[in-house]
Amino acid sequence: MEPIRWTTREERAQRLRAAHYNLFLLPAEDVLIDLLTDSGTGAMSTHQWAAIMEGDESYAGSKSFERFRRSVQEIFRYRHVIPTHQGRAAERILFSVMCKKGDVVPNNTHFDTTRANVEFVGAEAVDLPAQEGREPSADYPFKGNMDVMALEQLIERVGRERVPLVMLTVTNNSGGGQPASLENIRAVHDVCSKHAIPFYFDACRFAENAYFIKLRETGYGSMTPKQIAQEIFSLGDGCTMSAKKDGLANIGGFLCTNDDALAQQEKNLLILTEGYPTYGGLAGRDLEAIAVGIQEVLEEDYLRYRIVSTAYLGNHIAEQGVPIVQPPGGHAVYLDARAFLPHIPLEQFPGVALACELYLEGGIRSVEIGTLMFGSAAKMDLVRLAIPRRVYTQSHIDYVIEIILEVWRRREGIRGLKLTYEAPFLRHFTAWLEPA
Ligand SMILES: Cc1ncc(COP(=O)(O)O)c(C=O)c1O
Repeated sequence: MEPIRWTTREERAQRLRAAHYNLFLLPAEDVLIDLLTDSGTGAMSTHQWAAIMEGDESYAGSKSFERFRRSVQEIFRYRHVIPTHQGRAAERILFSVMCKKGDVVPNNTHFDTTRANVEFVGAEAVDLPAQEGREPSADYPFKGNMDVMALEQLIERVGRERVPLVMLTVTNNSGGGQPASLENIRAVHDVCSKHAIPFYFDACRFAENAYFIKLRETGYGSMTPKQIAQEIFSLGDGCTMSAKKDGLANIGGFLCTNDDALAQQEKNLLILTEGYPTYGGLAGRDLEAIAVGIQEVLEEDYLRYRIVSTAYLGNHIAEQGVPIVQPPGGHAVYLDARAFLPHIPLEQFPGVALACELYLEGGIRSVEIGTLMFGSAAKMDLVRLAIPRRVYTQSHIDYVIEIILEVWRRREGIRGLKLTYEAPFLRHFTAWLEPA
């Protein structure tokens, strides 16, 4: 429990100017409802806090690492489990070891850190979302699928030797928090097998994806989310994971692989920058929190509430005409800023303008996933309202609905923004903007 603080509209206008219209640069205490991210912002359970008290802080071979490894392997079933301080550290190590300049890495949609880590080693990150995933208002059950035909064509065009791995993000965060079906995952697996290309998951929201499969895909209704997750991971060769999402932890991640030689290289790099392979940049107590969290997240009562409460927000605003990515995702609702603010050209960042307006109107912090984040690679301009796990109540969400509807009513008066500073990569975190 923690208090939240009201600010006046004048204070928020002043804070926005001081933050250069970039909500990442706001002090958190000036935010009333923080929907910037669901990453590391969840509330830990009594079981997790109890496990934390058992943290074994031995440098090497701790009991906490053993409990962490056993818990991860029960679900993911990969031979090697390498802890990292968060998801992007796992990505950096994976792509540094597997990719080189000129390579091509396909994904349904790369997340910002994934794309940046691929590009950092000189490889090309290619997004291959299924066609239905590109249409925000279209209501399909598995809009997170990969376009398997496009994957085949890409491998054919660039040659197998330039594709060191294929990745699939479950759920597809940058594509609207939408799930991939097991049918699609199997089809991607078959293409990878045919060409002998390793197949990896970006597994951040694996439990939500597994639950969507249970609800929406024929033949999985009687399986538990854990059994479905096990089936998903049995089709891959490894994964990267940010435990800050479906690990229900405030920090942590891991990298898994079945390849012994690769694991050795990965551990060598890990020692250089993260830490010894039985803690990888984490404290023993963090490993304990993750070991419990990845099991709790698969409990059906938790998942049912999670998915229904996210849909509650999405459905209430969509009923009033607010354009959102349909259907609502697992961890977030995504406003379609191009449809919300059609009068703002893409080079004036309609998503950032909308996110700033939600803050100004009601102290709500969200994040743009669009032209500021991805430049010309952006296929949509979205504003993500990510719901932290086990944090806000329905009355908080009802307030968010009221604010969005207020901004919707006066949308025609909202103006675009222009960039005044940008970093050479991941510019959205530190960019400065001003009214255009
Ligand atoms: C799909 C996806 N992959 C990777 C990451 C990176 O994880 P981390 O923030 O722990 O580095 C995120 C974080 O939001 C994500 O959503």
